Amino acid sequence: MGTTQTTTMVRLAVFLIGAGACMAGEDVPVLKEVFKNDFLIGGAFNRRVVTGRDPQAAAIAAKHLNTATAENDFKWQLIHPRRDEYNWAPADDFMAFCEKNQMVAIGHCLVWHSQTPRWVFRDDSENALTRDALLARMKDHIMTVVGRYKGRIKGWDVVNEALNDNGTLRDSPWLQIIGEGSQDKQYDFIESAFRWANEADPDAELYYNDYGLETSKAKCDGAVAIVKHLKSKGVRIDGVGIQLHAGLTYPSIQGLEYAVTSLAATGVKVMVTELDIRTQARGYRGADIGRVTRQSTQDANADAAETQKKLAEKYAEIFSVLLKHRKDVTRVTFWGIYDGASWIGGSPLLFDRTYEPKEAFFAVVKTAQENQ
Ligand code: XIL
Repeated sequence: MGTTQTTTMVRLAVFLIGAGACMAGEDVPVLKEVFKNDFLIGGAFNRRVVTGRDPQAAAIAAKHLNTATAENDFKWQLIHPRRDEYNWAPADDFMAFCEKNQMVAIGHCLVWHSQTPRWVFRDDSENALTRDALLARMKDHIMTVVGRYKGRIKGWDVVNEALNDNGTLRDSPWLQIIGEGSQDKQYDFIESAFRWANEADPDAELYYNDYGLETSKAKCDGAVAIVKHLKSKGVRIDGVGIQLHAGLTYPSIQGLEYAVTSLAATGVKVMVTELDIRTQARGYRGADIGRVTRQSTQDANADAAETQKKLAEKYAEIFSVLLKHRKDVTRVTFWGIYDGASWIGGSPLLFDRTYEPKEAFFAVVKTAQENQ
């Protein structure tokens, strides 16, 4: 064979492999079809996805997902950066994307200690607000934000991450100021937030959302206590979100089952709201955004075949538990669409940095097929 012929054949082979790779994601099973009798399946979308600046991620979302959460744009810092200033454009873009693609939109989140500006908790002289003043600010925020999207958001994460890992309430400015150090008032900020969210949109579902419920029984019991407290006061809560920022070796099947079954036993819906699986073997395991640093997101072994195999196995295990409890689990949302834009780095999702479905994707589909 002459050199020219060989070169031509090599070029042809490279072209065919390349074309094959481009096509690889196109005729794979569609996740929202695969799970259509089980639960909604969704993703967290960043601004690039909803504004068309990441068309490949948007295409994956439109094809596979039927529910969406804005990764950041409804958070207080983004949507209400200054006292008299709301920034609606990014959240409006998110809503437009959801409506165009007929996706169930989820609002994330109303009351949280993170990504909330300092001014929220201070008066004009920089002193801590009084309980009444902070409650008034919380009410104004919730009525305004929930009111604006009334009828268009299926459910709100009303309170996010109010618990410590040991199940006690986190010492956030919300608890400090509204709870006033009193045991009797400790749940007041949560109760008020749910009352106002209900008033602003009586038809929207209202959720409590947290991480680590599947790895700490005490924390899960703390979430159960929140639900019971709200119900005892006649305050509506419709669901609890298990964020489920997992790792290659956690949670255990038992831990996840404990969370799903004990939360469901209170009568609320259970949803997995922020699923990803950290591929880093070392470092901080929780999902406190103050502790997830750039360094903790580096992972030299992320793409190794062995890592991807473990990732696929863990996803399969998690989905087998969720499918077993499909009558209680109403939604499973991934925290991101593909590895290139994940908040924790490494390779924690079902699609890789070139937007191709990974071994984990096929493991999830297979698990669904085996658990019909
Ligand atoms: C993360 C986002 O993914 C990042 O883009 C942002 O910088 C920090 O917040 N728990 C939550 C989410 O409830 O809102 C967090 O999202 C991840 C942990």
